[in-house]
Amino acid sequence: MSVKIFDSSEVQDFLRLASGLDGKAGSARAKEIIHRIVSDLYKAIEDLNITSDEYWAGVAYLNTLGARGEAGLLSPGLGFDRYFDMRMDAEDESQGAKTGTPRTIEGPLYVSGAPVEQGFARLDDGSDPNGHTLIMHGTVRGADGAPMPGAKVEVWHCNTKGFYSHFDPTGEQTPFNMRRTIIADAKGQYRFQSIVPHGYGCPPDGPTQQLLNLLGRHGNRPAHIHFFVTADGHRKLTTQINIDGDPLLNDDFAYATREGLVPPLFERTDEASIKANGLSGPFAEIEFDLTLSALIDGEDTQIVDRPRLAVA
Ligand code: DHB
Ligand code: FE
Repeated sequence: MSVKIFDSSEVQDFLRLASGLDGKAGSARAKEIIHRIVSDLYKAIEDLNITSDEYWAGVAYLNTLGARGEAGLLSPGLGFDRYFDMRMDAEDESQGAKTGTPRTIEGPLYVSGAPVEQGFARLDDGSDPNGHTLIMHGTVRGADGAPMPGAKVEVWHCNTKGFYSHFDPTGEQTPFNMRRTIIADAKGQYRFQSIVPHGYGCPPDGPTQQLLNLLGRHGNRPAHIHFFVTADGHRKLTTQINIDGDPLLNDDFAYATREGLVPPLFERTDEASIKANGLSGPFAEIEFDLTLSALIDGEDTQIVDRPRLAVA
């Protein structure tokens, strides 16, 4: 087709009608957003000559995406999560805001309600047969660099199969396995014992991977550990660290790797270190401080409210 009708008053009036812009009922914000997005899609259909067959394949795809619960998985794959971080980074920079540990994406697999522990937590239930013990620790610091006793460190990661508890298709994991909330001790320190996570891959038979295949892309993430860090007077930090040496460090399908978020991992084999941690064999150790940033005009400008799985 070569006809161009998008700019006609018929189509432009129709877009306003379909977006409810001819009436007062409903939400002005929803109308504004829907009008813009639907207009952009109509324009793309015309510019790219998107066929009816292609359009209906897309509609069927959205149904599958929802039915499989993968909209939140596709989002980082298409870079939206990273884009929101880029916008926040740019906003901070334009305001001259002093930032701490770099932010990076939350991902779709957080669960609220994890057990709360003081200072130290064991994250894993000891059942992963391939688990290599990890000790990770550090100090939570405020915007002025001072330790923050009482800061809340929420941590979650996957097992050696790349599966997260509560989202594990094998059903093997106990509730909240590898998920805890740790309250920083009197020196502002947090510490946990767990196992070194492996990389994550999108469900290979799912709609996210199906679309990535069409783009000639893989759906894998380097091994990583997620954090939310909160403390009085500070913005909530959402971040992750990567496991150093993972071959996908700079090839993450979700684009979450950032400079400053790949701390060194040390293999400890000496008896003194093993004993000092109450362990019976070699382990990996990561030290990583988490530095928060101050509220801006009394406001947390980086907190994100999104639907999250909550388990009692
Ligand atoms: C996805 C999975 C993750 O573990 C993560 O941290 C980010 C994104 C995903 O499946 O899209
Ligand atoms: Fe993750």
